Amino acid sequence: MYQPNEIKILQSQSHNWLSYISNTGNIKEVPGTPEDLRRVLRFHENRYYVMNDPLLSDFEYDLLFKYLEKWEKADPAIITKDSPTQRVGSGLIKDFPKRQHLVPMLSLENSYNAEDLLDWDRKARELSKRDDIEYCVEPKFDGASISVVYDHDQLSRGLTRGDGETGDDITPNIKQIKTLPLSATFSQYGIEQIEIRGEVLMNKNNFKKYNEALIEEGTPPLANPRNAAAGSLRIKDPSIVSKRNLEAFLYHVSYITNNSQTGLVPKTHAGMLEMLWNLGFRSPKQEMKVVTGIQAVLRYIAMFEQKRDSLPYEIDGMVIKVNDLHLQDQLGNTSHHPRWAIAYKFKARQASSKLWGVDFQVGRTGAVTPVAKIQPVQVGGVTVSSISIHNEDYIKDKDLMIGDTILIERSGDVIPQIVKSLPELRSGNEQLIRFPKKCPVCHTALFKPQDEAVWRCININCEAQIIERIIHFVSKDAMDIRSFGEANVRRFYSLGILPDIPSIYSLDFDIIKTIEGFGNKSVENLQQAIEQSKSQPLHRIIYALGIRFVGETTAKTLAQSIHHIYDLAKLSPEKLMVLEDVGIKVANSIYEFFKNEDNLKMLQKLEQRGVSLQRKESTPVTGGLTGQTFLFTGTLQELKRSDAEEMVEKRGGKIVSGVSSKLHYLVVGEEAGSKLEKAKKISSIKILNEKDFLTLMNKS
Ligand code: IVH
Repeated sequence: MYQPNEIKILQSQSHNWLSYISNTGNIKEVPGTPEDLRRVLRFHENRYYVMNDPLLSDFEYDLLFKYLEKWEKADPAIITKDSPTQRVGSGLIKDFPKRQHLVPMLSLENSYNAEDLLDWDRKARELSKRDDIEYCVEPKFDGASISVVYDHDQLSRGLTRGDGETGDDITPNIKQIKTLPLSATFSQYGIEQIEIRGEVLMNKNNFKKYNEALIEEGTPPLANPRNAAAGSLRIKDPSIVSKRNLEAFLYHVSYITNNSQTGLVPKTHAGMLEMLWNLGFRSPKQEMKVVTGIQAVLRYIAMFEQKRDSLPYEIDGMVIKVNDLHLQDQLGNTSHHPRWAIAYKFKARQASSKLWGVDFQVGRTGAVTPVAKIQPVQVGGVTVSSISIHNEDYIKDKDLMIGDTILIERSGDVIPQIVKSLPELRSGNEQLIRFPKKCPVCHTALFKPQDEAVWRCININCEAQIIERIIHFVSKDAMDIRSFGEANVRRFYSLGILPDIPSIYSLDFDIIKTIEGFGNKSVENLQQAIEQSKSQPLHRIIYALGIRFVGETTAKTLAQSIHHIYDLAKLSPEKLMVLEDVGIKVANSIYEFFKNEDNLKMLQKLEQRGVSLQRKESTPVTGGLTGQTFLFTGTLQELKRSDAEEMVEKRGGKIVSGVSSKLHYLVVGEEAGSKLEKAKKISSIKILNEKDFLTLMNKS
């Protein structure tokens, strides 16, 4: 949408504003009007969210945004409805009134194989009396469908699909989707009013983070990003919706006012996608392909399906549309579906199975989790035989009984989840799932705190909890004591040589040598790994302690604000809450942990046995990467992403969020996606695999 010369002008204006705001350059006079600043901000929103290619750092964008916010606050008369500051309105939504779509939202007919498509193409050719039809093929986005209306260039409303005729008016929430411009110059095409359909998504990365946060707070995770997107759109507080980082793809113009016969409006579907893209929308312009004849359609589908796992968002198939809009009209609709389009569904990531029974497992915080044992079944390429069913409420919500047929989904690399049970298939022999009243391991009565859904064993000396705490302590993301592992923790515990966490550092290796399967070499490896773990960075120790609600990110925040772990014991919940991302729940949990004498004794023992509880100043090793920028994409095999990033930062390098000409190194793991494609087009970017990366780190 932005021409090269416009980009140059907007970039230079951005820097003028930045130098004016932060008082660093020689620009002393305000460089333009509020609308000029808004234009600059809209441009960067588009670069960041739609193009995925930011030209400013998040910090610089925030500076500009906050300046505009301050300016508008001081002089409310300058505020416009489409100002980037106006996405988050104030106040809660009371209800979502029902409204009629301008054109009913028909659904698409589904097809599952080449024959279905050949059949559909044959009918379309017969009806249109053509030999070959031009089709536009695009992804079928797996999210929540919406329709949005722009009146006189302004976003005026957004509806859910509802029953297709009427949907819920969710306009305030729709405005939180940063890939949707609040205004777009449709007038330039003579369009006064337009209704566009699209799909709201939560990308895989954000979905993973969101589910991790749910798990951390004890809420069952969601089965797939589609549910996360649909659920988010129905939240009554738009400021929470804003934090979900929803995205939207817009793929179909369903209505345009009649007085748009200017000859400027595109006559093909692909042309419409192009128009939307040029107006700043995220349409599937880059993902679609226009082809002639059904064989070429099949080839493109096969090619795209290969990319499915490496895309940043979920798709569940492809949509094939007749490209010529006039021909679309001619073909028309049946009562349910348009005849000019069809969906081609990929292999399902759902499968049905039988719920055989339920085990109850006690975690390191005493939470008792029911785990369903199911008839092993293949879903999305892996065999699933047991699956967490989280808590009692979840079992009730999903109406689960032993003996039930259940539907399972494994979406991307998310842990498999039960979608629902199929009560209509019950024989009458199914049994209720009974939650135990006592801890299945130490038999202490279970306790459920008010406002929580989880039953807990409150005996902190419960064997199961002790073992789980040790397993967590040595695990890869915590102290990373390789060659220890869950099985050894259990073995050593049962032999009485590992009664608690500090005893990791006073293990009797003479006894271990006598255990079957332990040779000199493996004992040596274990000894070495334990020794090395003594100097792990502070954030790993904080995380390893297993304090409730303290995940890896929070542990990092905490570590950065203290010098010694005992500093945490000195902080009140109020002081802790000043830290980023530390809310009342997290603060109270940290406070309680350090108030407990047993925990303090454990820390003392660890320190006496040589474990460093201090923050090591992260002075660059050599600073050899100062000024160099890095970005990681895809899954690394050896390293954890966060560790690899830490290696870069330690050496003075910087991690950036997008591919642009300012990027020096793109490190590519498995299943790398669009970032790699983009980086290949910029010759100055060096593309490294994991091995090259490690070599560079060793040299720098
Ligand atoms: S076109 C009149 N294109 O798939 C036809 N739909 O029933 C308008 N979907 O609920 C729909 N990606 O929400 C179209 N590229 C795409 C799509 C798409 C996902 C959804 C749509 C609809 C369902 C099919």
